[in-house]
Amino acid sequence: MDHFLYRDGALFAEDVPVTEIAAAVGTPFYVYSTATLLRHYHLFDEALAGTEHLVCYAMKAAGNMAILRTLAQAGAGMDVVSQGEYLRARAAGVPGDKIVFSGVGKTEEEMRVALEGGIRQFNVESEPEMEALSRVAQSLGKVAPITIRVNPDVDARTHAKIATGKSENKFGIPISRAREVYAMAAALPGLEIVGIDVHIGSQLTELEPFEQAYGKVAELTEALRADGHTIGRLDLGGGLGIPYTRSNAAPPLPTDYGAMIKRTLGHLGCEIEIEPGRLIAGNAGLLVSSVIYVKNGEGRDFLILDAAMNDLIRPAMYDAHHDIIPVIEPVPGAEQHPYDVVGPVCESGDTFARQRDLPELASGDLVAFRSAGAYGAVMSSEYNARPLIPEVLVNGDQFAVIRRRPSFDEMMNRDTIPSWL
Ligand code: LLP
Repeated sequence: MDHFLYRDGALFAEDVPVTEIAAAVGTPFYVYSTATLLRHYHLFDEALAGTEHLVCYAMKAAGNMAILRTLAQAGAGMDVVSQGEYLRARAAGVPGDKIVFSGVGKTEEEMRVALEGGIRQFNVESEPEMEALSRVAQSLGKVAPITIRVNPDVDARTHAKIATGKSENKFGIPISRAREVYAMAAALPGLEIVGIDVHIGSQLTELEPFEQAYGKVAELTEALRADGHTIGRLDLGGGLGIPYTRSNAAPPLPTDYGAMIKRTLGHLGCEIEIEPGRLIAGNAGLLVSSVIYVKNGEGRDFLILDAAMNDLIRPAMYDAHHDIIPVIEPVPGAEQHPYDVVGPVCESGDTFARQRDLPELASGDLVAFRSAGAYGAVMSSEYNARPLIPEVLVNGDQFAVIRRRPSFDEMMNRDTIPSWL
């Protein structure tokens, strides 16, 4: 459920007409709904009620400071994967003891910053990383709390580019070697083992792969405890999928996911951490764009928008489907017309949808891409010297620009011309 609905013939973001935002900031832009973000966060929090837990929002999904502050104020922890993300989470008001640090390539500098600033745990992904963390922690006279990310070799049944839990993926250490690696960690100074971490992929639409992975984690917990390790915490990663279309069967809800977690792992008495990103932010955001031209091609019509692949890369990168809807509500029974929906970037891959049925549209009309809140703005670029587009946050009947559009001068002035030119 989200808070983007038609009212009086036009699309609203909560209580604000999308046309009003478009008039104020110009298109294209991203708009997020506070109520939707909070609703999704609370769904996870409530799904784990009765079990000690922390929902660590995977801020890679949407990392604007205003979004982070909104979730931080609701009590969310955060999953970060870089120094930049760590510093953002802290600046948004997340205490260090609610931040988990994931990622296969943490640098010593990143480790230092997190250890000095405060961290709940590092999710360690390899032996060399473990050794580096031990060195850094010792040099600072600190003890680094760690889990080790295990790769359970489970098929997440999602797009290959976002599956992470098979043995051929770069993530984690093979679960078959976990006991050996935990023994190594226990012998290294400056580290304190606190639990186990697993994350098998993103946009999972079934619970079964999670359940398989978590079953393996349950077995491993018992084996590691028998080896004498303290396993008090299980970080179960993110990955629960969202409905990208209104037509298909919806993926399981956080409530079902929470119940499965309790069923599979509840007997261990561990604190549970989860790292959802997409489910919190995905359906809390729209990308709003204007039609520049309608071009009649040979056998097909192109809807040329002012948004492009640099603003929303998911269709080009993952063949992802995003529902596209007109901002002015079509009259009931309006005739549908198939369009190839494209952006102005000079690549054929700059195609959002092929032969998509939409009501007849014309130059200047506004359209909205649904489910664009996660992995949208954060993955955008300035390709073709196109400015990063504004982000807007709605809260009830108020809205605020939370990232403004840069000027062309600002963009140019980031470059420097050497003295010999
Ligand atoms: N935890 C870890 C360790 C992760 O690597 C990820 C996502 C998450 C949590 C959050 O997963 P989520 O709940 O959002 O599925 N750009 C791609 C998705 C990449 C996901 C990367 N890791 C896309 O647009 O589909």
